[in-house]
Amino acid sequence: MLPWFKDRFPLYVAPMAGITDTLFRGYCKEFGADVVVTEFVAAEGIFRRNARTLEYLEFTEAERPLGIQLFGSDPDHLGRAAQMVCEWKNPDFIDLNFGCPVNKVVSKNGGSALLKDCPLLEKVARAVVKAVAPHPVTAKIRIGWDQKNINALTTARLLEDCGIQALAVHGRTKEQGYSGLADWEVIGKVAQAVQIPVIGNGDIQSPQDVAQRRSLGVAGVMLGRAAMSAPWVFAQIQEFLKTGELIEEPPLEDRWKHIVRHCRDGAKRIGNETIAMQCMRSRLMAYSRGFPEAKYLRSLFSGIASLGELEDIAGAHIVRNAQLAEPVAEDVGVALA
Ligand SMILES: Cc1cc2nc3c(=O)[nH]c(=O)nc-3n(C[C@H](O)[C@H](O)[C@H](O)COP(=O)(O)O)c2cc1C
Repeated sequence: MLPWFKDRFPLYVAPMAGITDTLFRGYCKEFGADVVVTEFVAAEGIFRRNARTLEYLEFTEAERPLGIQLFGSDPDHLGRAAQMVCEWKNPDFIDLNFGCPVNKVVSKNGGSALLKDCPLLEKVARAVVKAVAPHPVTAKIRIGWDQKNINALTTARLLEDCGIQALAVHGRTKEQGYSGLADWEVIGKVAQAVQIPVIGNGDIQSPQDVAQRRSLGVAGVMLGRAAMSAPWVFAQIQEFLKTGELIEEPPLEDRWKHIVRHCRDGAKRIGNETIAMQCMRSRLMAYSRGFPEAKYLRSLFSGIASLGELEDIAGAHIVRNAQLAEPVAEDVGVALA
């Protein structure tokens, strides 16, 4: 059994393209996430030693246990790419993407297209397991192609038989994309049907969500969008799992401190503050979810181009909200003026 399932109920950071880079994964670990996975990386890009692709493989020791997620459809290429990744980077595991719904990937038989082609899915899984042994291989699936073809149980049993050591199940079909709700009943059935650990994924927002879903028999959970806007949710969940206590969101100042740190680290990494801040705009939009005056903040973020601007926005927001929290009526009037 993978060691991180032995004595705990691991919280995974979901792989998210353009989001879960080394910085973000590191922060999630600091907040209490147990396991992280890189965003999906094209096996073909590795094979060709594409410079941009190789950047996605970057990680720090603090992020371990870490999985590198690969996608592709050619079993031989995937096997060799996975082998190269293991030799170069020695990740804790290789994760196979069988869930991506994006047309560019699906049209080349990658990601969720393999849910429709079980013989090819089996070949891919077997090829990679064999190529990287003794490195463990895990997989991430959706529950099926569409509502009429929900085949997660079949896929899960097949992958278990191929030697896949843990399986993340996102409770949506390919057809759903990100709409509707994740079907946790199907996730629960998969967890009951196989011996390998099943990690449930989809729509988890809070510690209570985790506790409720744990009762379905999953061995761990994976959080994506909730972590994107509030990575401190991992601390809240860990506390709840340990003591049953619900801890509050960090104070506004601390949340801003984290956001400024993320942007500063991003600028350092990219080496160009303006470009880094442009790249951070969508991240700032996500962080603002759940903040007071979120809509107003988003309008400020849409044109942001420097750390100085961010610090000014943060400072003014903290002051305004401290004033709004004051119970004196005139103060509220001033703050809103
Ligand atoms: C922006 C974005 C990028 C994603 N990229 C990947 C990816 O590279 N690999 C993958 O397996 N899933 C990817 N996903 C799916 C997530 O891992 C996860 O399954 C999905 O968001 C549902 O979980 P959540 O409700 O906790 O967000 C992505 C999701 C989002 C929102």
